[in-house]
Amino acid sequence: MSVASSTLLAVAREAAAHAYCPYSNFHVGAAVLADGRIFPGCNVENASYGLTICAERNAIFAAIASGARRIEAIALACVDATDNAPGSLRMPCGACRQVIAEFAAPETPVHIDGVGTLTVADLLPNAFRL
Ligand code: THU
Repeated sequence: MSVASSTLLAVAREAAAHAYCPYSNFHVGAAVLADGRIFPGCNVENASYGLTICAERNAIFAAIASGARRIEAIALACVDATDNAPGSLRMPCGACRQVIAEFAAPETPVHIDGVGTLTVADLLPNAFRL
């Protein structure tokens, strides 16, 4: 199923409103299109900082837990990045890139709010695969 990037980005921005981020105050939302359904995710932090999980992985794991396996598109919104913030503040972290590569083909689009559309291969060339 094809879903407009604007639709996926809107879901990602909405999901950011649910972020639990009292430590960074940096709200992130993601939306994953898989099996024709859209799965939202947000970052969830923890007082033990290393237990924090990113918005992208929460959305991906929700899709996988529902039985989906193949990701068709992803959107990401770092809604607290200001207009003049560097693009790097809006990009997916390295851990999320590896998890995305597990379930999405290299040509899969990743719509990044305020940046544009990249592919999984753009974000993680030569991804590790077992
Ligand atoms: N964060 C994400 O949710 N996704 C990313 O790709 C980068 C970082 C979250 C984790 C943490 O809650 C906050 O942003 C600051 O690092």
